[in-house]
Amino acid sequence: GAGGHIEDINFSFEGPFGTYDEAQLQRGLQVYTEVCSACHGMKFVPIRSIGAEGGPNIPEEQVRAYAEFWEVWDPEIMDWRTAKPTDHFPESSMENAPDLSLMAKARAGFHGPYGTGLSQLFNGIGGPEYIANLLVSYTGEEKEEAGVILYENTAFPGGWIAMAPPIGDEYVEFADGAPNSAEDIAEDVAAFLMWTAEPKMMARKEAGLTAFLFLTVLTVLLYLTNKRIWAPVK
Ligand code: HEM
Repeated sequence: GAGGHIEDINFSFEGPFGTYDEAQLQRGLQVYTEVCSACHGMKFVPIRSIGAEGGPNIPEEQVRAYAEFWEVWDPEIMDWRTAKPTDHFPESSMENAPDLSLMAKARAGFHGPYGTGLSQLFNGIGGPEYIANLLVSYTGEEKEEAGVILYENTAFPGGWIAMAPPIGDEYVEFADGAPNSAEDIAEDVAAFLMWTAEPKMMARKEAGLTAFLFLTVLTVLLYLTNKRIWAPVK
């Protein structure tokens, strides 16, 4: 097929009251660490941000221990060294594997009907859906083109991707014992990548909701005030 087929997923962070699921973000971090980071980087994400409340909320000592898992290039000493929490995640180690920091906002899962944007109005932009679908939409067909092996994938635009299927059922054994079918793993890492792309989503929604409530109350007060002001004139 031509690719681009995306199924909607109900993520916890959708809708005006949606929030990130801390346990899911921790599982997604585990998937990123154990699988995706072999090829991809996240150079815009500070390691210490995984300790953020509203995010994975990893305790401080664990963040410090986690940072030591990574080697980063330090231009001051012109050498590699063990990472500190203040460092960012390393860049992609594989040249053609794109950085994943902002991927959930760089891709759209839903399009059209052409010129209307209606699908996105009802389903959202679909970045995390795209990532989750991409990981489990391999058909098993392969072909070689100009020395590159391409894998058929019904979610990838064009239908053939240079990324080999990175996950399958039980590829990751979750620390919290959560279900680990390929779909579970894909959703968890997609949710995590939504958080890296928009770590302040919850604060934004809260501010939006507060503004909405405030303006609603203000509207009522102005309506009543207006009635009172003009009452003698009637
Ligand atoms: C591309 C996610 C693991 C190699 C991509 C893309 C995403 C992604 C979202 C972009 C697709 C697009 O352009 O629309 C992930 C996730 C992983 C993972 C979430 C872990 C679960 C890996 C691994 C490798 C790899 C382990 C290497 C063995 C690549 C390459 C591309 C790519 C080479 C470019 C493909 C192309 O443009 O045809 N990946 N990936 N990925 N990934 Fe991964």
